[in-house]
Amino acid sequence: MGLPLAQSAGFWFPDQASDVAAGHDFTFFLILGVCAVFFFLITGASAWFVLKYRKRAGHKEQATSTHNTTLEIAWSAIPTVLLMVFFGVSTYWYWHMVNPPMNEKSLDVAVEGRKWKWWFEYKGEPFKSPARVADLYVVKDTPVRLSMVSPDVIHSFFVPAFRVKQDVVPGRINRLWFKPTQVGTFRLYCTEYCGQDHSEMTAWVHVFETEAEMVQAVIKAADTKSIPPEELGPRLYAENCASCHSKDGKAGLGPTFKGLLGSQREFEGGTTATADEAYVRESLSDPKAKVVKGFNPVMPEFKQLQAHEVDALILYLKSLK
Ligand code: CUA
Repeated sequence: MGLPLAQSAGFWFPDQASDVAAGHDFTFFLILGVCAVFFFLITGASAWFVLKYRKRAGHKEQATSTHNTTLEIAWSAIPTVLLMVFFGVSTYWYWHMVNPPMNEKSLDVAVEGRKWKWWFEYKGEPFKSPARVADLYVVKDTPVRLSMVSPDVIHSFFVPAFRVKQDVVPGRINRLWFKPTQVGTFRLYCTEYCGQDHSEMTAWVHVFETEAEMVQAVIKAADTKSIPPEELGPRLYAENCASCHSKDGKAGLGPTFKGLLGSQREFEGGTTATADEAYVRESLSDPKAKVVKGFNPVMPEFKQLQAHEVDALILYLKSLK
């Protein structure tokens, strides 16, 4: 995988590639700057006083003054004004970040974060059939609205260049919107620790100049029919199964795929069956129907796989003797 951070960001902040990025950074540097000024004022004054009023020969202590109205008003009023400025600036940008524009044409994408991969689904007119792809494709200056779900644990959608982040939580739909302002390819991370391969749960956001280019890229990425099954099978395995099912005989979160087809399976509840193609198909659409003895019923459904994809996967399983 390499070091994904090093590719898109240097030492400093990543590109400002959405319409909230500049405001986000401004808020950050405003608060940082004000804090830095007071930090040096306070520590500087403390150091100076320690020196100036140190105990030494010929220097007499003075009585501590107990009250100074001007000073007390100043140290209440100045922080109050500063905090109101912080509140105003951050509320303005927060409001912008949580409220998608109502009167603009937007691109709606359904997002699924699952252990340990992102999926993006495009529906509607230009895509003909729903397109499910592993990267996010968007258009410059067009607001993107995401509805995000998780079938397993909490994940979190994060694109540093856009300065947007939102948890993806099982059992509910979380929403997020942003407006990309720069053509290019940006890193998308999972930023909620979600298990073994959390660090590999990344994807790319491709920002295109025109809608036509974006639609074409999505359709091309979603088209698995043109891929020969003997290539498609291993790819689908890597994308969907490998994190839980090994191909070398080792048990993972789920049983190994090595020698799976044709083997005798024993299930929770005491039943048995031969693992044939029908069994594989059933496990993909209804994983909890038969749970292999000694494993937990944690496998999510894979109903989104198309018929030719399931065929390719079964072909691949047959090769894992
Ligand atoms: Cu998904 Cu971390």
